[in-house]
Amino acid sequence: MSEGLLMAAYLVAALMFVMSLAGLSRQDTAKNGNIYGITGMVVAVVATLGYAHIAGITLVTLCMIVGAGVGLYLAIKVQMTEMPQLVAILNGFGGLAAVLIGFASAVEVNDSLAAQVINMASSTEQLIHSAEIFIGIIIGGVTFSGSVVAALKLQGKVSSRPVSLPGGHWTNLIVLVLAIIMGVVFVQQHSILALTLVVIFAFIFGVTLVLGIGGADMPVVVSMLNAYSGLAAAMTGFMLGNNLLIITGAIVGSSGAILSYLMCSAMNRSFISVILGGFGTESGTIVSDDEQGEYTQTSAEEVADRLKSSASVIITPGYGMAVAQAQHPVRELVNKLRERGIKVRFGIHPVAGRLPGHMNVLLAEAKVPYDIVEEMDEINDDFAKTDTVLVIGANDTVNPASEDPGSPIAGMPVLRVWDAGEVIVFKRSMATGYAGVQNPLFFKENTRMLFGDAHESVEQILKQF
Ligand code: TAP
Repeated sequence: MSEGLLMAAYLVAALMFVMSLAGLSRQDTAKNGNIYGITGMVVAVVATLGYAHIAGITLVTLCMIVGAGVGLYLAIKVQMTEMPQLVAILNGFGGLAAVLIGFASAVEVNDSLAAQVINMASSTEQLIHSAEIFIGIIIGGVTFSGSVVAALKLQGKVSSRPVSLPGGHWTNLIVLVLAIIMGVVFVQQHSILALTLVVIFAFIFGVTLVLGIGGADMPVVVSMLNAYSGLAAAMTGFMLGNNLLIITGAIVGSSGAILSYLMCSAMNRSFISVILGGFGTESGTIVSDDEQGEYTQTSAEEVADRLKSSASVIITPGYGMAVAQAQHPVRELVNKLRERGIKVRFGIHPVAGRLPGHMNVLLAEAKVPYDIVEEMDEINDDFAKTDTVLVIGANDTVNPASEDPGSPIAGMPVLRVWDAGEVIVFKRSMATGYAGVQNPLFFKENTRMLFGDAHESVEQILKQF
């Protein structure tokens, strides 16, 4: 394949990746987005293999088949609730690839120097190449070890509590500075020993950094590590002189950084404080003692009657719907209500659940029509005009305490469900949500609590139709 054809193929692949991102940003176009991404990657791999004269192509092909097989198996097998761990590990592989390629590149340059094959037009070129290798390796190393720790925390194999090492952030800083010093030695002297030490210090830094962050903040950390893996890929692109890798790495790096920022804004958290660690809350176990008054319990029969007499209904799902896997009966309920001419919509909070788009994925899986699924900003003003709201396994995302400046979730934008005629809350107990804050919604006059597993509760309501 000629270089011109290779560049044309890379351009097509880059366009596909951009179209993929655009597609993935909306639920109804997400499938196409995936297809564009897959097509772009196939074009990129085929063009690269067709152009480069790769020694040991059989081994490379074999490795690709094994890698693709493992990836396919993991993606098919993974539970929706385990998705953050999978994403974390995949980011980690990106980082590890950057480390391995950087190392191979450094050894290759060293061999050439030893054999005096390379006659660098200027030593500046050599310095820039070594700096690229160093930056790629340090970012890749931190991404790899940090992602492994994040995945272990999410899987519950490592304590989700923030673990501070003796010396706290100072220890982290010293390890980072040591890695940078070794990097400078490598760039100046092409010492493979110094580069090996960079890798070791980068691995240690990734571990200590992520260990210090609470399990609850892991989704933001995973998204940040995703951005790092993009940067590592872009640096590898510079190392190898591969334009497509630079473009793809930049796309992944910037979109990962934007996603981390959006998640933090939607939770009203400071990105810097999350990344510095120690500010994370533990997931859903803290029960506030605050007395909030009386709450009113209801039954499936009463809820069914209320729904039948409503003209408009909004459903706001949360993490509990994922736990109960209630999306399928919820979809059936939506069908029943729509058959009766009742207007039904979903209101989705940007951080409902435990990963970006969690609720959208569940609803898409249950084949809920996209046009009745609305974002928080689109639907928030409509609650006041709605007869009944079903809060299915959501808590923090519908908590009016966010309007109280003294609350730990103060300033977090929430779905204003309490403006509706009546609010039915589906949950198993009076326990708090992820933020560990009691919810005054449960004690409001127009709120009814329907206790029990959300899947079973919706099934019970369905029996009344
Ligand atoms: P949460 O505040 O975590 O509340 C979930 C509720 O579901 C709990 O009140 C729980 O109450 C109930 N529940 C659990 N299992 C249930 C079951 N089987 N049946 C019925 N109810 C069940 O959920 P949310 O409103 O979706 O808020 C998400 C939280 O996660 C936010 O604080 C957000 O900041 C945080 N977070 C989200 C993300 C992303 S990107 N989505 C990332 C990091 C953090 P019971 O135990 O009483 O049943």
